[in-house]
Order: sequence, then C-alpha cells, then structure tokens
Amino acid sequence: MKNIILCGFMGCGKSTVGRKLSRRGNMEFVDMDRYIEEKVGMTVKEIFAKYGEQKFRDMEREACRELAERNNLVIAAGGGTLTFPENVETLRRTGRIVLIDVKYEILCERLKHDKNRPLLQVENRNEKIRTLLDERMPLYSRAASVVVNGNFGSDDVASNILAILH
Ligand code: S3P
Repeated sequence: MKNIILCGFMGCGKSTVGRKLSRRGNMEFVDMDRYIEEKVGMTVKEIFAKYGEQKFRDMEREACRELAERNNLVIAAGGGTLTFPENVETLRRTGRIVLIDVKYEILCERLKHDKNRPLLQVENRNEKIRTLLDERMPLYSRAASVVVNGNFGSDDVASNILAILH
C-alpha cells in the first residue's frame, strides 16, 4: 500500500487519527510538524518566532519532498501544508490525500486553550479560525481525493478512513 496523507485544519485530529490509522494498517506514522522539529532541533513555535512563517513554509516544502520518497507511511500534514499546490503535487504522487472535515464550532472548542500554534496567538482567535477556514476549505477539497466526516471520535474517524481506502 502507498502512503496515506491526512489533510485538514489545525485541531481536526490529523495526528490522533493518523497514529491510530498507522497502528491498524500496519504502517509507519509521521507527523510532519514533529519531523521538521526533529530535523531543525527547534519547535514550530520557535521556528516561526525566530525565522518567520516563510522560512517554516520552505522547511515544510522540503519535508514533503523527503517524505514523498518513502512508502507505507501515514503522514499527518500540517494545517497549512496542502494549501500550497506544489506540496499537493509532491504528496499526491505518493499516495491518497484524505481530508478530515471538522466543523467550525468543534475546531474553536478544541483550539481554545492552544498556546503552541503561532497562527492562533491573536486577540480574536475564533475570528481567525473562521477566516483561515473559509480560505482553506476550497484548497483542502481540491487537494484531497477522499473526504471524511471528522466530527466524531478519532477511533470512528480512523475506521471510516480504513473502510473507504480498502
Ligand atoms: C499550521 C498548522 C500547524 C503547523 C503550523 C502552521 C497552519 O500544524 O504546521 O503551526 O498553517 O495551519 P497542525 O495543523 O498540526 O496544528
């Protein structure tokens, strides 16, 4: 089996679902943010603070290229990764891109105490989530070949993905 790439907004469950999926499908799990952090020796938060978002996006693009060389992976992409056509092209060639679709209200609830995601450290977090979500949903939909309802627990979401892909 080729790779499975999980796509969707921050807080949609890409990492939690991805870990479960990899266990059940006997695949290796890679969280792209953690992959970048290990490579650079800094957290995503530190990378944004020290070098800015653009530099992070460069690292992310590089990570996509590297991971695309590998097989049998479940990759949890970052929330911004698949908004860039180049990354979509790179990853699409290596497997199926699955969008985990979670509604706005649930995302706001899940993200309300977050301190690590640089894009959400703003005064009106819910408004930021609304704006980003509206911008990104069409891009995610274009990138993905499969969309799953993510408004459930991660076990159910993982089962649905496996059922659809097999
Ligand atoms: C980002 C999402 C984050 C991380 C970075 C930027 C985004 O990943 O890559 O903070 O642009 O949405 P998660 O979706 O795993 O939080």
